[in-house]
Amino acid sequence: MRKSDWHRDRRGSRHGGPAHPNFGGALDALGGLDILVNNAGGVRAGRLEVTTEAEIDAMLTVDLLAPILITRAAMPSLRTSGDAMVVNVTSGIALMGVPFYATYAAAKAGLARFGEALRRELKGEGIHVLTVYPGSTDTPMMKTNRAGPEPRVRPRTRLRCRGRDDRGH
Ligand SMILES: NC(=O)c1ccc[n+]([C@@H]2O[C@H](COP(=O)([O-])OP(=O)(O)OC[C@H]3O[C@@H](n4cnc5c(N)ncnc54)[C@H](OP(=O)(O)O)[C@@H]3O)[C@@H](O)[C@H]2O)c1
Repeated sequence: MRKSDWHRDRRGSRHGGPAHPNFGGALDALGGLDILVNNAGGVRAGRLEVTTEAEIDAMLTVDLLAPILITRAAMPSLRTSGDAMVVNVTSGIALMGVPFYATYAAAKAGLARFGEALRRELKGEGIHVLTVYPGSTDTPMMKTNRAGPEPRVRPRTRLRCRGRDDRGH
């Protein structure tokens, strides 16, 4: 599902429409649903100040909003299964904020907390929720993990010690 579909879906959902026009078709083709793996993800590395609003929106949409909406849409089918599982693929960055990945870290940490809360919410109801925290791996996604042009950043202050500068003068 492409991002444009999700924007369309977000409008539909506010009006109580279907979670996604393709979701019912996928369920029909699969004949039901026992396991949902929220794996799709994208990242744009770089300083926050050179990350565009569109790139921020894309990360929050694909890495956080989409898995929440897909999980919500899948709930009736997962309940029918009786022994179902939701797998959320987050990132090690969800556990420790890494510089130049601020938005991605926020989205993945949000997804991890979503899964933790949902796991407790569904305890004993036949739907298990598993959170995966992969480490850095060479995959197609990482090829687009492009750090954009960096602005020249000057240190704001020089080290000083009681009237002396950092060269001891
Ligand atoms: N590689 C790493 O170092 C690493 C580390 C931690 C976590 N992860 C996570 O692991 C998961 C899998 O990533 P990967 O590393 O295995 O890379 P990958 O092979 O490139 O897989 C990323 C998947 O996300 C899909 N995707 C991206 N944007 C999408 C969109 N707007 N709509 C629908 N699908 C979209 C891609 O589909 P298309 O191929 O059709 O574009 C692709 O199937 C991601 O959630 C990622 O954040 C990766």
